[in-house]
Parts: sequence; structure tokens; C-alpha cells
Amino acid sequence: MKVLIVGSGGREHVLAWKLRQSKKVKEIFCAPGNGGISQIATCVPLSSDDVSGLLAFALEKKIDLTIVGPEAPLVAGIVDAFEKEHLTIFGPTKAAAQLEGSKIFAKEFMHRHVIPTADFRSFDNIKDAQAYLQHRTFPLVVKADGLAAGKGVVICRDLKDASQALEDMMTSKVFKEAGSKVIIEDCLEGQEASILAISDGQKFVVLDSSQDHKRIFDDDQGPNTGGMGAYSPAPVITKKLMTKITLDILTPTVQGMRQEGIPFRGVLYAGIMVTKDGPKVLEYNVRFGDPETQAVLPRLKTDLVDLCLAASQGKLGLTNLEWDERPCVCVVMSSRGYPGAYESGKVIKGLSEADRQKDVVVFHAGTKNQGEDIVSCGGRVLGVVGFGEDIAKAIQNAYNGAEKISFDGCFFRRDIAAKALKRC
Ligand code: AMP
Ligand code: GLY
Repeated sequence: MKVLIVGSGGREHVLAWKLRQSKKVKEIFCAPGNGGISQIATCVPLSSDDVSGLLAFALEKKIDLTIVGPEAPLVAGIVDAFEKEHLTIFGPTKAAAQLEGSKIFAKEFMHRHVIPTADFRSFDNIKDAQAYLQHRTFPLVVKADGLAAGKGVVICRDLKDASQALEDMMTSKVFKEAGSKVIIEDCLEGQEASILAISDGQKFVVLDSSQDHKRIFDDDQGPNTGGMGAYSPAPVITKKLMTKITLDILTPTVQGMRQEGIPFRGVLYAGIMVTKDGPKVLEYNVRFGDPETQAVLPRLKTDLVDLCLAASQGKLGLTNLEWDERPCVCVVMSSRGYPGAYESGKVIKGLSEADRQKDVVVFHAGTKNQGEDIVSCGGRVLGVVGFGEDIAKAIQNAYNGAEKISFDGCFFRRDIAAKALKRC
């Protein structure tokens, strides 16, 4: 089989690495890929947003399966475009991708299907939104309706914060049209977890749980990032809780989308807050999480290509997935300045030394080849993954790997998976 992966981050590197383990996969292309992916797949210089270019490439190369990493091409309708040409592609259609592409769509959908989530109101003009704030208690959360590269959520401690967030989104248009409508919702308290399921539109299988670390600094301080590390499984998601999440959240989501005539095929990612009143949905994503996937997929023993193919073709068997029981920890190494304006072009040293460590795998995110060197070219540069017999050993392995690597301005959190350690 020939597989095309769309995207260029750590998530796409782990997807390529996982597909390499399948006997069924003969050739892997990745558009556009990165420095690490180029060592195990053929990188194609096409942007992940270039739907017509990707389609032409897939037709020309007779690609058997396309797997889409990021949300933007899904929300733009890449799946519809490929399916029109009878190409097999793993991901939701444009209509189903609204679960991530429009927070108002997602919240109204949850309301219609009685799926637990924070109470909310939506607004399309700032006057009404500002008036509503006057009657509210704080904290609360202001969210841009559309895609905002993970920056469209503001936790507001008081009226001043919330009023400013509305001004930024609706008047200054910092997220362009994505902020022309907003949601104001209750602030939930608890521990977060990421639950990923693979669905064929009717049936679904649930992957093991994971937990992301969104803030830049240790102890969850500082601004939000794309994710500074992850681990799997997340002990906060007990077996009992996973059953509840499956029954109360995943099942009505998959069934609800089907009933509404927009069956969801692809990865359904539910960002969950485990509150004292039970698990509630913070948000849906319609793709693999990054960096959660770097901690989840290395533990999956089942052939990923079988799962993706079956889901794309509406033929998912209710298979029990097979897992490596050992926990996995991913530490993200980032560039100085991230999540703001960051440095790039720094030569990365120690990559093969880190990779040679037992139970360590290095996934590239923002890297590229430059002559003989691999240099940084993104905010999140690498994800160093460690396996271990227990979470303490997995943490130790991941950090042992990270310590071997250096580049000017390199930064990483020192407390990835500390929450899991506390629960053991
Ligand atoms: P998102 O960009 O939608 O992934 O949200 C980013 C982060 O904002 C989530 O991971 C949570 O940490 C936080 N968040 C979103 N909605 C809420 C909420 N209703 N209450 C508390 N935190 C939230
Ligand atoms: N790690 C969060 C996300 O993929 O959106």
C-alpha cells in the first residue's frame, strides 16, 4: 500500500513511524513532513492546506490511503474533495469537522444530544455579549467560534479580562473571522484528559487515555501552548470513568452525528474535564492530538493502517485494541520565545545519541535538513518519548533522552507526567 500523511509535526512523525511497522505499507509520503520524517518517508513539498495540490499528488501517485494530521484541511473539506475522486482518506467530511471548526456548532450539538459540557451562551454581536457579562459571576471562559490555532480560548478572572477578550476577538479581530462569533461559558474545575476514539461513522473504538500539558512552564504556569508534553495512560481516567465517558459522551456523539446526517469518520478527540460532577466535554477535536499521539500510538500494538482503512471505508470491526501496557511519556523540546515569536535555524545536536537510548524514541516537530545538519524551524521542535515499566521509569527515560539533545535556546518542562506519578 501507498500511504500519504498530511502535516509536518510530531504527530505526523509518530504516524509515519507507526505505519513503518505495518507489513501492509510499502511506501509512505508525507506532505510537507519535516527533518525527522524525511528519514523514514518521502517528503513532498506541498503545504497541508493545499487541498488541490494534495489531491493531484494522490491521484498521480495512486495513493491507497491518506491520513490527515491537522484540523485546517479537514475543516476546509479535504475529505470531501478526495472522496469525490474515489480516493480513500481517513478523516471527517467538512460538515462533520464542524465539531472542531465551530465551537457554537459543537456546543449546540452537545445541548441537543444531552452530552455533559459547561453551560454556555453564544453571541454574534459585541453589544449583547458585553451586556451579558454584567450579570455574570467569574471566572468564566470566552471562546472564539472558529479555528484560532489553539489560542482562541481565554479564561477570564474578572469583568475586565472578559470585556478585553471580547474586544480583541469581535472588534480588533485578532483571530479574523474566527472571532466574529463567540461563546461565553462556565469555567470548569478539575483535571483534564484527552480521549481519542476512531470511528467509522457508526461504530467506534476507544484508544487508551492520555493527558496533555498545555501551559509553557512547570506547575501549569504561563501562557497556553500547543502542548508541552503528554503521557499515556492517564491514571485520572479509571476504568469506571472510561466506561462513563464512552456511554455519556462518545456514544451519543457518534450516534448524534449519524442521526443528523453527518456521520463522523476519523479520530474523534474529546477534551475532557473530570469535574466533581463527572466528566464534561471542554472541546472536540476531529483529529489526533499533538503531543498526545506521540504518547499513545507507540503503545498501540494493533496495526494502525487496518484501523484507519476500516474506519475510512465504514467497516470498523469492534476489535479489542492491543496495547503495550507500559506507560509512555513525551517531553516536548521548544525554541526560545515559544509560544510567542520564537527563534529558528538552530543546529540540533545529540539526536542519534538520544535515539540510541533503550526505550527512547525521538519524534521531530519543527525541524528541517540543512546540509548535513538538522536545524530547528518551529516553536515545538522535538518530542522525546520514553517507555518504562512504570510511570517513574518512563519519565526517567524520556528525560534521559531529552538531556542528550541540545540546541541554542532549547527549553522543556521538567514536570511532565508528575500528576500521574502523584496518583500512583
Ligand atoms: P482549546 O483551545 O479549546 O483546546 O482549550 C484550551 C484549554 O482551555 C483547555 O485545554 C482547557 O485547559 C481550557 N478550557 C477550555 N474550556 C474551559 C472551561 N469551560 N473551563 C475551564 N477551562 C477551559
Ligand atoms: N494537544 C491538544 C491538541 O492537539 O489540540
